[in-house]
Amino acid sequence: MIHDGIPVDDPKHKHGRFFDVWSRFYRRTLFGLELRRIQRLAIDRLKLVPGQRVLDLGCGPGDGAQWIAGHGAVAVGLDYSQGMLEAAREVAGLGGRLTRGDAGRLPFKDGAFDKVICTNSFHHYPHHLAALKEMRRVLRPGGLLVLVDPRKDHLFGWAAIDLIENAVFGLEEVRIFSVPQWHRMLGEAGFASARVDVGPAWQPVAWAEVFVEATA
Ligand SMILES: C[S@@+](CC[C@H](N)C(=O)[O-])C[C@H]1O[C@@H](n2cnc3c(N)ncnc32)[C@H](O)[C@@H]1O
Repeated sequence: MIHDGIPVDDPKHKHGRFFDVWSRFYRRTLFGLELRRIQRLAIDRLKLVPGQRVLDLGCGPGDGAQWIAGHGAVAVGLDYSQGMLEAAREVAGLGGRLTRGDAGRLPFKDGAFDKVICTNSFHHYPHHLAALKEMRRVLRPGGLLVLVDPRKDHLFGWAAIDLIENAVFGLEEVRIFSVPQWHRMLGEAGFASARVDVGPAWQPVAWAEVFVEATA
């Protein structure tokens, strides 16, 4: 699996290595638990109807896709980390609907999904606008994107991403955006309408994130 010109399993691919290692204990940390809570907030915003086709982009260890399937929707999980996908394969009922792939080149037809969800994955993509355009392409007209990612205009977002992931773990390409930047990017990616707000102030990690709801 090639991502941004380098095989994801190659030790030179720092992001791939980072997630393969993290996949071994992802759910077992306090931070992991907090990310689960945020994922649930995002899934509530999908307003799922049984039978809808939903892509969980950057699905990690599969909890989100499992909850989506629990609402009677058809959940497909995509991730580029072999380690994360192996963890996701242990989640009952998801095996056949997990795909290894790159957010920048989604292996799906135009309009294949009613909904796309992407939680805490977007800041790792090297070509952000290209990834947003791909999300819009695979949504049917009128389909909904729900995306959550750390925001630039909050100290925690800056500390977690620019300081820890970039400076400490050496993931140079990570990048986060402010609310006005999000509005601009969603327009450039061709979404018909978009709402961007921040998480609830009483949940400190969620508060440091943008919650995007955009219609294709
Ligand atoms: C912090 S985890 C989030 C996992 C899950 N969405 C959640 O909310 O807990 C980020 C995930 O994005 C995946 N990812 C990062 N860049 C990717 C890319 N370009 N294509 C596909 N998956 C990617 C990683 O492998 C990882 O599983």
